[in-house]
Amino acid sequence: MAKVCAVPKKIIKDGKEVMVCDETRSRLLPVLQSIQDKEGYISDKNMQEVADMFGIHPVEVFSVITFYSFLSEKKKGKHIIRVSNCVSNVMAGSEKVINEFEKALKIKTGQTTKDGKFTLERTSCIGMCDEAPAVMVDDKLIGKVTPQKVKKIIQEQK
Ligand code: FES
Repeated sequence: MAKVCAVPKKIIKDGKEVMVCDETRSRLLPVLQSIQDKEGYISDKNMQEVADMFGIHPVEVFSVITFYSFLSEKKKGKHIIRVSNCVSNVMAGSEKVINEFEKALKIKTGQTTKDGKFTLERTSCIGMCDEAPAVMVDDKLIGKVTPQKVKKIIQEQK
């Protein structure tokens, strides 16, 4: 099977300009994911170190981090609660669920509780339209969430 190249780049080889596949990004993701898992976020210092390691500009590392929602340049809470806000979830009442999380955690979406335990986020898709309103707590999916279930979901994480 022919190799698919998502990002070609020109290099000079033996004095000639040739096209090669730039695999930097595919190698970059596992490195960033491992930093994210270990540190909980990717600091400016980590971004610079990774950029140096790959021989790319730190802005390129930053752009990858901001593209993927599972990577973050900011420290987040111990538990990340993501509420899907795709059309199906909004139609099924995800805004009421978000409002209840905001009330129970005393934060707004995008914020982290003062004790550092929870970060609340909206996310476009968690593959749970058929179970809307759906929530993802860390890597656990929870479907058919109602405002009445919010406090129990929070308590289960403590
Ligand atoms: S589009 Fe609704 S959860 Fe993915």
